[in-house]
Amino acid sequence: MNATANTPVNRQWILQRRPQGAVSREDFAFVEGRVPEIGDGDVLVRSLYFGYDASQRIWLTDDGGYMKPIMPGEPMRCMGIGQVTDSRNPDYKSGDLVEGFMSWQDYAVVRADGPMPLRHLPKADFPLSWNLGVFGVGGLTAYFGVTDGLKVKDGDTVVISAATGATGSLACQIARLHGAKTVIGIAGGADKCNWVVENTGCDACVDYKSADWTNRLAELAPNGVDAYFDNVGGDMLDEMFLLMAPKGRILICGAMSQGYTGVKVQGPTNYMRICTHQLTVQGILLFNYAQQIPQAAQQIGQWVMEGKLKVSENLQEGFEKAPDLLPTMFTGKDPGKLVLRIADPQ
Ligand SMILES: NC(=O)c1ccc[n+]([C@@H]2O[C@H](COP(=O)([O-])OP(=O)(O)OC[C@H]3O[C@@H](n4cnc5c(N)ncnc54)[C@H](OP(=O)(O)O)[C@@H]3O)[C@@H](O)[C@H]2O)c1
Repeated sequence: MNATANTPVNRQWILQRRPQGAVSREDFAFVEGRVPEIGDGDVLVRSLYFGYDASQRIWLTDDGGYMKPIMPGEPMRCMGIGQVTDSRNPDYKSGDLVEGFMSWQDYAVVRADGPMPLRHLPKADFPLSWNLGVFGVGGLTAYFGVTDGLKVKDGDTVVISAATGATGSLACQIARLHGAKTVIGIAGGADKCNWVVENTGCDACVDYKSADWTNRLAELAPNGVDAYFDNVGGDMLDEMFLLMAPKGRILICGAMSQGYTGVKVQGPTNYMRICTHQLTVQGILLFNYAQQIPQAAQQIGQWVMEGKLKVSENLQEGFEKAPDLLPTMFTGKDPGKLVLRIADPQ
């Protein structure tokens, strides 16, 4: 915390202009202000970790996508972990550790309600930051996507794109735990593909940057793909329609290839395969599973404790890095969940 004993300073990264195209550091301004006052029902949270999610780029568009857009002058919204320092909500008290929607500032006034209510974090033997990864957006979306969206079952051949990512790396493992016979990842480059095979238990990983990636995938799945967990969209999704088995299922989770600079994205041209192969295409939005999160987190926790789920985290340090890390979600980053540590709990 950049503060003196009596007058804490609230460092903020605020949006100074709406990004056009790729997001950059210059879209944000660093300011220092006062710690905000809280009103009835509010909770004041001191930031400990910021999580990085591709959807943050959507929130920066004029439209905001599925949430209110972030306006110039406001601190950048993120999923975060914090510690309550003041509360006018009976459900939260000073010292509580919580996870939920926060923003790039040392102290944020947080409402406990909304689409993803502020979550109390249990005392646990694993690192606090994992509540943004395996127990956060990525892990939970992977869990609900595999178990409910795709309904992966014994014997399935499953393909998962963005397999080095926070969501994909866990979806690969959960698909196997749910009975998939063959699990194939998709990632960019030989090193990342090796990482996927070594760290997610995939049988194989296909490099989407190689010219013949669709042939390679067809060889690995000679009877077609039963379930495809799509994090990438665009041309890759288009090609996947041609690789699906009859009655295959596709889960639309994200569209990394589209950069999220606007809400209009490239749609598939091979969609008639939905008709000829009787495919099911379904979307997922984690918000819609808010009530089932405690139960899912318990199952994920059990798998972690039993050593059945390997957690990969890309942990960075320092408040000053907050805007520099956001573009790396689209330009290339190390595998695992990207998290920025701001402070330790007191
Ligand atoms: N619907 C929901 O509720 C929900 C919830 C969570 C996440 N999501 C979505 O799930 C997706 C993954 O999120 P995440 O948090 O797991 O992200 P992440 O950890 O940043 O991983 C994203 C991965 O995307 C790959 N990628 C980036 N640009 C690509 C491109 N042009 N073509 C192919 N792959 C590309 C990168 O892999 P390589 O290095 O191999 O290229 C990267 O590892 C995102 O689209 C996100 O919006 C949706």
